[in-house]
Amino acid sequence: MPKQDKQIQRKVEHLFLAEKYFTDESFADFDNVRLLHDALPELNYHDIDLSVDFLGFKASLPIYFNAITGGSKQSTKFNTELAKLANELNIPVSSGSMGVYFRIPETANSFETLRENNPTGFVIANTSAKATPKLAQQAVDLISADALQIHLNVTQELAMPEGDREFIWLKNIESIVKNVSVPIIVKEVGFGMSKENIQQLKNIGVQNVDISGFGGTDFAQIESARNHELDLTYLDQFSLSTVESLIETKPYQNELNFFASGGIRTPMDVIKALCMGASSVGMSGLVLHHLQKYSYEETSLFFESFIVQLRIIMANIGAKNIKEIKKAPIIYDESLINYAKQRQIN
Ligand code: FNR
Repeated sequence: MPKQDKQIQRKVEHLFLAEKYFTDESFADFDNVRLLHDALPELNYHDIDLSVDFLGFKASLPIYFNAITGGSKQSTKFNTELAKLANELNIPVSSGSMGVYFRIPETANSFETLRENNPTGFVIANTSAKATPKLAQQAVDLISADALQIHLNVTQELAMPEGDREFIWLKNIESIVKNVSVPIIVKEVGFGMSKENIQQLKNIGVQNVDISGFGGTDFAQIESARNHELDLTYLDQFSLSTVESLIETKPYQNELNFFASGGIRTPMDVIKALCMGASSVGMSGLVLHHLQKYSYEETSLFFESFIVQLRIIMANIGAKNIKEIKKAPIIYDESLINYAKQRQIN
């Protein structure tokens, strides 16, 4: 692997800057949402079923490890651990952007490890919105991916001095949707999506959207730390939080499949996102933090406790399975009611 390559160096910096800025606090607005307890849940805790259908795959939990990394030696280590843990938990795992592989094929093993360490699980490839359908298919083939994520990252690119400046993507995404052999998920990278964006994606045939909202990993902050010319952290002011983005999905929830990510910190965040319409909930910063700060074993224990807490919350709101979470009464605080009103979403 060429050590001096700038793109590879950037991937390494992302890993360590994500950890530098990680906080246990989430800014995704989940604190402004309440679920009500059920005094008569009429269920047996031991019968609670956490499984979900993730694009045809029966995942044991309503969570997945979202896109993080690839390309560097450090990426190989994290992707190996993510794949092993995803395999252990029987949940989907995504690759980081595979653009570096198109340019430097010697980086292939940093991605292949995802499949090697999770041979029968659900593995997701990841490319930019400008990858040609042929390259996107190559990314899928390299790791025998079950789905492909296409990331939308305007704010991130603009905060990078070396970033892209052309954001004409829709036609290319449409062509990827038509020509790539696996389901396509279009995702943000932590700045959220509006209902107008969702309509644009729907118009070109996109069926699966990960709104990846603001509240956790903040690429305006991360890229500003790398950019010695300009501090563009304030660009995150434009972002939609994960909860706001979930409100934006409401008019489309009967037609499209939504995943939620961005600032997921607790089992309560997961349950609230599911209640608001997500079919599964992604995390990047949280799992990366545990792997970087602690160890694989401790991260595994963290998720063991996370699962117990998912069940406890479900029993409290009277949900025997993930579908029943969607029926739980939900209370929004005034700021979110005001948001929905101004955005004309009921
Ligand atoms: C990311 N994310 C990301 N997303 C993507 O589609 N392709 C990528 O290559 C990356 N790279 C990446 C690196 C690192 C270090 C992190 C932490 C994240 C974005 C990620 O998938 C997710 O959308 C956001 O991070 C928001 O979720 P969290 O981190 O708040 O859980």
